[in-house]
Amino acid sequence: MSTKGEHIGNLDKKELSESKQEDQPLVQLKSIYHIYRGRAEHASVVALKGLSLKLETGDFIAVVGPSGSGKSTLLNVIGGLMRPTAGSVFFENIDITKTPEEELTLFRRQQVGYVFQEGNLLPKLSAFDNVNQSMALNGISYNYRKKRTLELLDLMGVGHRKNQLASRLSGGERQRVAIARAMANSPKLIIADEPTGNVDFKTSVRLLELFKQLNRETGMTFLIATHSTHVAGYADRSFELRDGLLLGQHGISVDLSQLDTTRMVIMDSDNRITLPHNVINQMDYLSALWDIKVLENSKILLTPLEALTSEVAEDSADTKECQVCGASNPLSGKFCIDCGAKF
Ligand SMILES: Nc1ncnc2c1ncn2[C@@H]1O[C@H](COP(=O)(O)OP(=O)(O)OP(=O)(O)O)[C@@H](O)[C@H]1O
Ligand SMILES: [Mg+2]
Repeated sequence: MSTKGEHIGNLDKKELSESKQEDQPLVQLKSIYHIYRGRAEHASVVALKGLSLKLETGDFIAVVGPSGSGKSTLLNVIGGLMRPTAGSVFFENIDITKTPEEELTLFRRQQVGYVFQEGNLLPKLSAFDNVNQSMALNGISYNYRKKRTLELLDLMGVGHRKNQLASRLSGGERQRVAIARAMANSPKLIIADEPTGNVDFKTSVRLLELFKQLNRETGMTFLIATHSTHVAGYADRSFELRDGLLLGQHGISVDLSQLDTTRMVIMDSDNRITLPHNVINQMDYLSALWDIKVLENSKILLTPLEALTSEVAEDSADTKECQVCGASNPLSGKFCIDCGAKF
């Protein structure tokens, strides 16, 4: 683990990119399933149903979706806090689902910083000790730890509260100390599960701006689960989950408040159906209402409740590139056929 550098969070973009091959995602999930096994009369819950996605270094991503959609499970799987039932999670080129427990513990300490809704601090330790302790576990010298702890607490605007017990800090102060703690070991990825869930609006704006600043200045990757459209509005991309499925990936300027219309057609045993991109592009699914019928020959009939104003676009040799994921798309499309970003 590096301990050099002048930048915020002691980590610069160069350092981050040197440890992995070019074009390699920071994290890649391949067909992740997670089942919580029910005990006694409780049924098992399939919380993640075959998720595949990528996080690139420097991403600032929100995970959105209703309660129970699998956001926390996904974050825990990516952060190595939970092994998925099936599938692979590559962190750079290491599959952390197959890593022995000891190495996984090191991975969690060194590569990932966690911020949870409750602030995840030890209540009987001071703000200073909470931050300092996370580095002690990584065998960093006392002098360096002290310097860095004070630096980080100052950076988060809670330097003057360093001797206060965590249990006596306000919600906003606790979250700031938790962020300092999460950053202490200069992780490549910060995972935040509802980080602003317990703080007032003004504090949540300050925390998010802090996240954005850290992301811009250090190139650290952020993955934030949230119910809040305001929080998601800070993200450059968002993953939308519903019932353990990835419903879509969205780029900048998607109005998340518009995404709760019924767009998922449950058809096969994995609760999924694939539609041709030219049909999807005509569906304009953020606003249109559709009547969906299953026909006898296992085809489906989609009838817009308002008549379509134009013919379904034919495939065309002319394409345009998606600014979010780089996929080639037909010129007539309104949404990327690969990631769902809006043009
Ligand atoms: N430890 C557990 N044991 C059994 N089922 C669980 C467990 N944790 C989560 N679940 C179930 O898995 C599904 C996904 O839960 P998860 O906590 O990941 O959702 P979430 O999107 O984070 O919800 P919320 O927005 O309420 O935090 C839910 O149906 C939930 O009830
Ligand atoms: Mg959750």
